[in-house]
Amino acid sequence: RAKRPAGAPDKKLARPVTKVGIVGAGLMASQLALLFVRRLEVPVVLSDLDQERVDKGVAYVHAELDKLLAKGRISQDRANRHKALVSGVVEKSEAFADADFVIEAVFEEMGVKKSVFADVEKVVSAECVLATNTSSLSITEMAADLEHPERVVGFHFFNPVAVMPLLEIIQGGATDDATLATAFATGKALKKTTILVQDSPSFIVNRLLGRFMSEVSKVVDAGTPIEVVDGAFSGVAPMPPLTLMALVGPAIALHNTETLAGAFPERFYVSPALERVVAARKPSYFGPDGALDPEVAAMLEKP
Ligand code: 3HC
Repeated sequence: RAKRPAGAPDKKLARPVTKVGIVGAGLMASQLALLFVRRLEVPVVLSDLDQERVDKGVAYVHAELDKLLAKGRISQDRANRHKALVSGVVEKSEAFADADFVIEAVFEEMGVKKSVFADVEKVVSAECVLATNTSSLSITEMAADLEHPERVVGFHFFNPVAVMPLLEIIQGGATDDATLATAFATGKALKKTTILVQDSPSFIVNRLLGRFMSEVSKVVDAGTPIEVVDGAFSGVAPMPPLTLMALVGPAIALHNTETLAGAFPERFYVSPALERVVAARKPSYFGPDGALDPEVAAMLEKP
C-alpha cells in the first residue's frame, strides 16, 4: 500500500481542482500548462503581460500535443480535447475567478511574485490555492502581505517538466493542512514524485546543485574552457554542468547562486563571468547550432 509522503497531511483534507490558472506563459509556465492539461484534464488558463507572450505559450502546448500525436502516444481525440482545454488571457480577473489552483511562474524576484499574488487574490475565492514555482525564494515572505497566507505553497518543478519526476512541495510558515493536502493530491495526479520540503533558501535540490555549480563556475572563471569542463562530465552525469546551466537559463542559475550566497556567503560563489552573460541577456551559453556562443566565450574569458 502506497504510504503518504513523509510529513504530508491527511489526504481527506485535499480540495478538488477543477480549473487551473497559470501566471506567466514563458519557458516553465507553458511546460506547466502542458503537464496540468494532460494529467488533470481540466481547463487551464495561461496569462501574461501581453497577447504575444500568451499566444506563444498556448502555441507551445498545441505543438507539444501535436508531437505526442505524431509519435502515436495520444489519440487525435485526446489531442483535440486537451487543446480545447487550454486558453490564454492578458486580463485574468474573469478567467481566474473560478480557478481553484493558481500557480505562478513569473520572473524570479520577490517583489514581482508578491504583486502577482496580491492581484490574483483580488479575483479568486478565499480557498483557491496559490502555488509558486519559485526555485529559491521564501514562501513565507511571499505570502506575508496576503489576506489569506495560509493558501500559499511552494510547488517547485524541474526542467524539462515533462521528464523530470521530482516535485518539491514547500510549506511556508502560514501554509495550512488543507492547502498542503491539495498540493500533494495535485502532485500525485500530475504523476510526480512529491516530497515535503522546509522553507529555506533554494530548498533542497537547487541548494545542492548550487554548491556544485559554484565549483563549476570557479573552474571556468579560473580559465578552463567550457567544452573541457562539460567534456569532463560526459558519461558521468545525464547532462554536463554548463549544458544544464544553459537548459535552466543563465538568469535563473545566477539568481539561485545569489540567493544562496546571500544566505550562506562562505559556501557559495557568484561568478562575475556569469553576471556578464546575464547582463548581456543571453538566453543560453550556446547558439542555435548547439556550439558555444562566441560572444559568451569572450565574456567568460574576460578577466
Ligand atoms: N522537453 C520535453 N521533453 C524532453 C525535453 C524537453 N526539453 N528534453 C528531452 N525530453 C524527452 C525526450 O522527448 C525523450 O522522451 P521520449 O523518450 O518519451 O521520446 C526523453 O526526454 C529523453 O530524451 P533524449 O533521449 O533526447 O535525451 P536524454 O536521454 O539525454 O535525456 C534529459 C534528456 C532527460 C533532459 C537528460 O539530459 C537529463 O536528465 N538532464 C538533466 C536535467 C536536470 O537535471 N534538470 C534539473 C535542472 S534544475 C531545475 O530545473 C530547477 C530550476 O529551479 C532551476
